[in-house]
Amino acid sequence: MLHTAGKEGATSLAKAKDGEKWAMYMASMEDGEEEISSRLVAIFTYTCVFNTRNSWQEETKTDKAYLEDLKIALEETEDELNYFTTTHAELVGEVVQPLGKERFLVKVNEGVRLIVNRSSLVDQSKLVSGTRVTLERRTFTIMRILPPEVNPLVHKMVCQHDGGDVSYSDLGGLTHQLRDVRDWIERPLIDPDIFERVGVKPPKGVLLYGPPGTGKTLLAKAISSNINSTFLMVVSSSLVSKYVGESPLMVREMFKYAREHQPCIIFLDEIDAIGRRRSSYGEGDTRECDRVLIELLSQLDGFNELDKVKVIMATNRPDVLDPALLRPGRIDKKIEFSLPNEDSRMRILKIHASGITKQGDIDYEKVVKLSEGFNGADMRNVCTEAGMLALRAGHDYVVPSDFIKAETKLGEAKKLESSAQYNADF
Ligand SMILES: Nc1ncnc2c1ncn2[C@@H]1O[C@H](COP(=O)(O)OP(=O)(O)OP(=O)(O)O)[C@@H](O)[C@H]1O
Ligand SMILES: [Mg+2]
Repeated sequence: MLHTAGKEGATSLAKAKDGEKWAMYMASMEDGEEEISSRLVAIFTYTCVFNTRNSWQEETKTDKAYLEDLKIALEETEDELNYFTTTHAELVGEVVQPLGKERFLVKVNEGVRLIVNRSSLVDQSKLVSGTRVTLERRTFTIMRILPPEVNPLVHKMVCQHDGGDVSYSDLGGLTHQLRDVRDWIERPLIDPDIFERVGVKPPKGVLLYGPPGTGKTLLAKAISSNINSTFLMVVSSSLVSKYVGESPLMVREMFKYAREHQPCIIFLDEIDAIGRRRSSYGEGDTRECDRVLIELLSQLDGFNELDKVKVIMATNRPDVLDPALLRPGRIDKKIEFSLPNEDSRMRILKIHASGITKQGDIDYEKVVKLSEGFNGADMRNVCTEAGMLALRAGHDYVVPSDFIKAETKLGEAKKLESSAQYNADF
């Protein structure tokens, strides 16, 4: 009975916000009960304070560890700063070949080759062929290991995921194409053993081809956003430089970067810019394009099937591509992107209309029926055009008739487009 009273007392203490309530509660107690109750209250308060102290102690421990880490980082940075401000300017070189444990053949910037020693601070096991190092200017001792050099243009190609991600659900009706790309490109990267078990060589590259606006680039972006590997997104025309010899160098650097950052996918968009059939005569730009293509062909041959580097190329002009580029071993699978059928058009329309503020029931069936011959980009344009019509009418929502009007307008504009052939005759 007393015990219960004590417990109640503790609870009431926790609840009591002002002294008056507390006084009333104490007054209602008998003598013996009062003493036990106040003891229990004291124990309860002690436990609370004890627990708080423990959690603070834990927090202090974590903060101390964090402070220690910061101190170490600060010391390291200060060391580096000291090193760079006090040592004389050093030479940058590249290890050509280790000659035993202490001596190394090193190539310095000007192409001069030297046999040098290493400082005891440099880890010998890391000094393999191709490692960039700094050399002390007077004794040519290897002082430091530098990170690999990355061409800034290649660095720009690396896909950064910063909000512009495309998910697989943003692709309307590209089920077969997505499955093919994932089987031929993603599977060898994540499960290379399965190819060894079956005894087939893993593919190196695929070509996505088809009319403009059918989702080739979009699919590549979706793959890059969803796969856990380095992704180089390259617009092929950017590989052609006006300086002779620089374009093939870019291709080389690109593949070098890919090999150093495996698993890696290189996406070459609009490959017809550099992959055109070579001509027997040509000047200026054409010659440079040919050189890029030759370098690309040799790079594609250069890496092993077992390397985790895969290439995806995309074009809407497969008919002009050089046959050497298309042969199996370089491009193992050609994936066609045809104009979307009715079902796919419906999916694409719904994907792009999902973000629009609408009023009334939109007759999607009718819009899709009217859009015969439209590609994915046209379907997106129907939504944009409908939105523009609504804006012009002073609404902040789209009504069903806006979609039909937009559809008719775009259908008429489309009749003026030239009808090119996008079929490949492989
Ligand atoms: N299947 C699709 N699902 C959803 N949207 C699509 C689809 N196809 C095209 N689109 C829309 O059209 C736009 C253009 O598509 P994309 O750039 O992928 O075309 P492409 O096939 O690369 O054309 P090109 O050959 O001219 O480069 C996309 O940004 C997207 O909004
Ligand atoms: Mg494209």
